[in-house]
Amino acid sequence: MAERDQELRQLAEEEVQKHTETVEADPYRLNYHLMPPVGLLNDPNGFVQWGDTYHIFYQWMPFDTGHGAKFWGHYTTKDFVNYTHEKPALTPSDWFDKNGVYSGSAIVHEEKLYLFYTGNVKDENGNRETYQCLAVSEDGINFEKKGVVAELPAGYTPHFRDPKVWEHDDHFYMVIGAQSEEEQGKAVLFRSENLTEWDFLGPITGSKEGNMGEFGFMWECPDVFDLDGQEVLIVSPQGLEEDGMNYANVYQSGYFAGELDYQAPKLEHGAFTELDRGFEFYAPQTTVDEKGRRILIGWMGVPDQYEQAHPTVEKEWIHCLTIPRQLTWNGQKIIQQPLDEFKDMRGPVLLHSSITIENDQKAVRGIQGRSIELNIDFESIGEQFAIELFQYASLSYKDGVMTLSRPHLEDKEKTEFRRVALPDGLNNIRMFIDHSTLEIFVNDGEEVFTSRIYPQPEEEHILFTSLGASTFSIEQWKLSGFQYE
Ligand code: FRU
Repeated sequence: MAERDQELRQLAEEEVQKHTETVEADPYRLNYHLMPPVGLLNDPNGFVQWGDTYHIFYQWMPFDTGHGAKFWGHYTTKDFVNYTHEKPALTPSDWFDKNGVYSGSAIVHEEKLYLFYTGNVKDENGNRETYQCLAVSEDGINFEKKGVVAELPAGYTPHFRDPKVWEHDDHFYMVIGAQSEEEQGKAVLFRSENLTEWDFLGPITGSKEGNMGEFGFMWECPDVFDLDGQEVLIVSPQGLEEDGMNYANVYQSGYFAGELDYQAPKLEHGAFTELDRGFEFYAPQTTVDEKGRRILIGWMGVPDQYEQAHPTVEKEWIHCLTIPRQLTWNGQKIIQQPLDEFKDMRGPVLLHSSITIENDQKAVRGIQGRSIELNIDFESIGEQFAIELFQYASLSYKDGVMTLSRPHLEDKEKTEFRRVALPDGLNNIRMFIDHSTLEIFVNDGEEVFTSRIYPQPEEEHILFTSLGASTFSIEQWKLSGFQYE
């Protein structure tokens, strides 16, 4: 509805005006991460390259730092450093999306940009309805809603959402995150010849499918693609129990590598591997660009995980997107590396080669700051090695296990931990720090830890500790940050 759309845009704009000063004054605002102007950001949506422009949409709640009737916010960039914050692409203005233009994806077809999303609807009794919807654009900025293209099939609850669309062998496919009537999480497949009429094919995998046991009551944000010849399903399952070092967050994001039989349809696959080991990571989405790179962006947040305890809430905003990562397949697992374009933000390098610390805790000259990239290559590691960040977080390595710790966001007297085993030991750490974010790539992208951190804003000190002797070289760059037009 055009009128309601105008009204919602106006209200959102007023909200932005009202809180911009408060938001901008927050020392926890970020230098090189995409954030909401005010309010709440969650999943990345519609990530695509069209011509020379990358489009990055995001779930946006302008009116509150909680969840609700989401808009699609919209950033564009040609180089991942210079951005334009476009007007919102979609507002929850129609009967089929009035309680939220929920997550979805984009595909370029016949010189138009097609957005697929879930229309979230609550009826007068609060019962949920779900519609898979389409919006089309000729200029990449203005989107015309085309309404509902797929209805809820029998056997599923209305927790049925997050369409990811791609082309394969002259057909279009759409994978959706679903919950069966037995309350089992599933990834289901639709097929189309024209992007407007969709046939339901069935689940490709899920909790209690094939020889999988129980694996969550709901699966969100599925993404299917080929990575260097290996088919992969990324998905965010809800309802996994913490298991040793695994599944420590409230909800998880990870992948199954396998083989997709599009006809059956069935994904034969191996075990689930988590994509990230930090405190905040969820609902990632990928795209492939013209250079053939498979690029992933995630939400630096987790639903229902003490979201309101983030101190930015009192400054009228919450959450951000992760830095984009390039994915590759090493024959066994997904390797994630920061996008090369991030090197363009680097200032001059500060290099210390062959530093040895033995039974001591030390600062390293010049290694400090709140908008920096660090690269550490190890020659040898003692019994234990740790990096203390800003008297707040600590990254430590001992007995083949890497641990990240920080004060518990809700109960600051407690410390919380996230851990991962490194079967081949530790040889490299590449760390991105941006005021209140921390992204740590371990062993050239074998593991990643993504987290928000809330040290004292002016605290810049980084300390290195070694039990026994550790020898390493360290490079540091100050990162200039994103530019907005
Ligand atoms: C994941 C999610 C999606 C949904 C969206 C709503 O974080 O719950 O399943 O489409 O967020 O904002």
